[in-house]
Amino acid sequence: MTWSLPHFRRAVARAPGRLLALVALALLAIACNEAHPRNTLQPIADTGDISAWFYHMLLWVDVVILVLVMGVWTFAVLKYRQRPGDTELPPQDFGNHKLELIWTVLPTIIVIAITVPTVGGIFKLAERPDPNQKIIVVEITGKQWWWEFDYIKEGINTANELHVEAGTQVLLHMTSADVIHAWWVPRLGGKRDATPGRRQDMHFIAREVGTFDGQCAELCGASHALMGTRIIVHPPAGEDSYQHWVEEQQEKAKEPAAGSPEEKGRKVFLEKGCVACHSIAGVAELAPGARSRTSGPNLTHVGGRTRIAANTLENNVDNLAKWIKNPQSIKPGALMTNLGLTDEDAKAVATYLFSLK
Ligand code: CUA
Repeated sequence: MTWSLPHFRRAVARAPGRLLALVALALLAIACNEAHPRNTLQPIADTGDISAWFYHMLLWVDVVILVLVMGVWTFAVLKYRQRPGDTELPPQDFGNHKLELIWTVLPTIIVIAITVPTVGGIFKLAERPDPNQKIIVVEITGKQWWWEFDYIKEGINTANELHVEAGTQVLLHMTSADVIHAWWVPRLGGKRDATPGRRQDMHFIAREVGTFDGQCAELCGASHALMGTRIIVHPPAGEDSYQHWVEEQQEKAKEPAAGSPEEKGRKVFLEKGCVACHSIAGVAELAPGARSRTSGPNLTHVGGRTRIAANTLENNVDNLAKWIKNPQSIKPGALMTNLGLTDEDAKAVATYLFSLK
């Protein structure tokens, strides 16, 4: 097919219908975009404010450019369209210096105008936390497929749910024990790679109390999509304060009552090999100097977590039993050993673990 003016005419005639269809699609897409727990544009921390601000700034700069360019284009199409009786191509014009200057200088100014605040934002994000103010320091280790959190000063080793305090500086030191993972809680803003043999830092001050979901953002193996995380922001004072959480975590595991189902569960836990990978303070202690065992999360207060298997399932006895019975059925490739427990034993261990608040 050769391109000719009649072809062009037909294409223009079809354009309004296609434009309407596009607008309808765009409106549909917007309708789906309700408040979402992983919405980067609803930041709850200073770092998230910076990235959300850049998103909006760039969006509006782009909207202005789009309207200007499409405006000029529409004007040209309408004014210089083929009219009845036009059989020849219009005069072909090359090399207009004035126009060339405009379309070189204008984009340069726009790029500079965007670059200046962007570089400022990068420097702001790279600032160190103020050492004269309170800082919560947590070492984060990405593992296939969960997150380990060490609060060195507080002596707390936990997993998957990061607890912090609203209004307080938080400094995260990030690394990985196996492959490259990436820590990402969208409402905090910003991602950080967790890379073996390297330490990356990230810091923020969360201002909103609540629970916010995150997701590993670097393809790290079969269950990458099931490597979630949560950040729980506590108020600075009151019943649910961060300090209260710290004190709870520093306690040893709760002792089950003699003859209780929990006590039976602890017996199974100790006898069937769970202790090869998991520690429970006061029950199956860590080797001196070790922060965690080789592979599994510390279970001292596992019953107090809101979710299990790295934000994959709600934390309750049934889900814990399913997970213990056959981890790979929930998380393909999970490194947790299937110990071949009976339903009864799995339930007993689940009952015991759920009691460890
Ligand atoms: Cu860890 Cu993807």
